[in-house]
Parts: sequence; structure tokens; C-alpha cells
Amino acid sequence: MTTSGASGGPPARPTPAAPATTIAGVRLEHPLLNAAGTAKSLDDVARLARSSVAAITVGSITREERAGNAGEVYASRPGCAVNALGMPNRGAAFYRDALPEMVAVAHAASKPLVVSVAGFDPGEYGELAALAADAGADLVELNLGCPNVWEDGSQHRIASFDPELVARSVGAASGLDVPVGAKLSPLGDPVLLAEVADALAGGPTAFVVTSNTFPNGLVLRPDGRPAIDVGLGGVSGAAMRPIALGQVAQLRARLPATVDVVGVGGVRSGADLDDLLSVGATAVAAATLFWDADEDPRAYADLLADWVD
Ligand SMILES: Cc1cc2nc3c(=O)[nH]c(=O)nc-3n(C[C@H](O)[C@H](O)[C@H](O)COP(=O)(O)O)c2cc1C
Repeated sequence: MTTSGASGGPPARPTPAAPATTIAGVRLEHPLLNAAGTAKSLDDVARLARSSVAAITVGSITREERAGNAGEVYASRPGCAVNALGMPNRGAAFYRDALPEMVAVAHAASKPLVVSVAGFDPGEYGELAALAADAGADLVELNLGCPNVWEDGSQHRIASFDPELVARSVGAASGLDVPVGAKLSPLGDPVLLAEVADALAGGPTAFVVTSNTFPNGLVLRPDGRPAIDVGLGGVSGAAMRPIALGQVAQLRARLPATVDVVGVGGVRSGADLDDLLSVGATAVAAATLFWDADEDPRAYADLLADWVD
């Protein structure tokens, strides 16, 4: 059977449905979700519950409440963005109470809830992952790659670049009845990438999310001052696209097939999403797309429509 447009033009192309997928056995209606850093409150979760994402990522959350960095913390330029939000969030005590309702709101919209947690040592990762599991999260993502955390003038170590710290952080979150994943910074050194993959392969990791922002980028204003007030920031957006694609391809090749890979970095169009799937991602997430759309969740609907087309 063919259908033709009212104008009598060529037959309308049937719109294929977006295919379902899974992350660590958790079913998603389609492969697109929001990346961490786009939802921290119940209102944020409720907005995303009404959006087109197939799962909702909330966080990253930390043990202590964090105000985040002051002043300009996000700057977008053609082809990239830099941010140094400093992981603002209400802390574990708040999320212990708030997460069950966030889970309920997500589930009422038939969307799994992913909770992203960030610790300052392996014990904190374990503690926060247990908190998320107790609250009913469907997936727990350990953010091992946040570059924007400073204390007393010095920058925190980025766990992703230390295979032993990766293994201990993930190990601290073992034994939970929810799949646990690791979100990694881009690993430019292939030897280090292999070491990190091997560290993850030996533990409870059910999925890997790659990539977090490229650390310590610098964007300048026309007068030469940094565009964000703390100076250096994590690079995201289109500049991350080939990097994320390369990370997904390499990690997919190195990790056991039992570990799913979620691709993140510079996804703007259906073709970008397709590229990440084609090199082995089972799902794809985006953050800068949403920030550049003034946090309007319709950006995800537009991306999904483009991909389905
Ligand atoms: C403003 C902003 C805040 C972010 N906050 C977090 C965060 O709290 N935790 C995290 O794991 N990643 C965070 N990210 C990283 C994103 O989740 C994503 O990995 C990265 O930006 C690359 O994807 P994109 O190009 O689609 O933004 C943040 C990114 C941006 C732009």
C-alpha cells in the first residue's frame, strides 16, 4: 500500500519508530537521554519527564551541598562550549529525601532514572551510589571525570586518569542491586585508556559513559579575559564530537561485551547520534545541546525527530 500527499506529490515516507535499546539491561524506548549536568531538582526532572528523552539523568550529586562557582560559569562559542559550574547541588541529605519522588515522577512517565554521583574519595562514591540505589534509581553513574572542582587554589585530581583510583571508586559501589556505570573523561593516551578499561572490566561496572568534558580548556573574550570567571573550564559541544566517537570506538573494542557504552559529546543532529551508535554505543546523551537551547527540553525532541527522519 502506498499513501500519497494531499497535493498528489510523491508518496509520503512512513516515519520509522525510534528503536528501543538497553543500558545494562534497563530498557529505554529509544537511545537518547539527557547527559549529567542538565537536571538537579524535582522541577528539572518533571520537565524532562514531559520531554522526549528515553531516560532522565539527574546529578551529579555530591555528599556535601555545593553552591558551585560564582559569576560566569558557562560560555558557548560556535563549535564548542566551556563550563566550570563546580557541580552545584543540594547534597546527599537533600537527595536522600528528594530522589524517591524524582524516581516516581520519571517512572510515571515510563522513563528510567539515572543518578549521577561524584565523590571525593572511593568511600564517597560507595556511599552516594548506595543512597541512589536505596532511593530506587534504575542506574547509577559514577562521575569519575569532573574537572571543575577546586579547593584552596588547587584542582582536584580527575579520577578517570588514575586506573587504580577508577578501580577503587567503582569497587566501593559494588554489591548494590542496581547496575553501576563509570563516566570517564576523554583518555587521550591509548595505553592509559587500555589500563582504565581493564580496571573497569575487573569490577562491577555494567556500563561506561564517555566522554565527560575535555578538562581545562580556555575561551577568551574579545578583550583577552577568560570567558568564564574561574578561567579554565571543561570543553563540551561540537569540538567533543570526534573525541567522543574515538573514545566510544576504543572502549567498545577493549571492554567485555557485557559492559554497555553510552556515547556523549557534541551530539547535535541525528547523524551525530547515529555515528555514536554505529561505533558501538547502545545509547547517546547530550548536555550542551540543552544548555545552548536555554535549557529547553524541546531540543531533545528536535534531535530525536532528526534522527528518526
Ligand atoms: C553546563 C554543564 C554541566 C555539566 N555537569 C556535569 C555533571 O554534573 N556531571 C557530569 O558527569 N557531567 C557533567 N557535564 C558533562 C556532560 O554530561 C557531557 O559529558 C559533556 O558536556 C559532553 O557532552 P555535550 O557535548 O553534549 O555537552 C556537564 C556539561 C555541561 C555543559
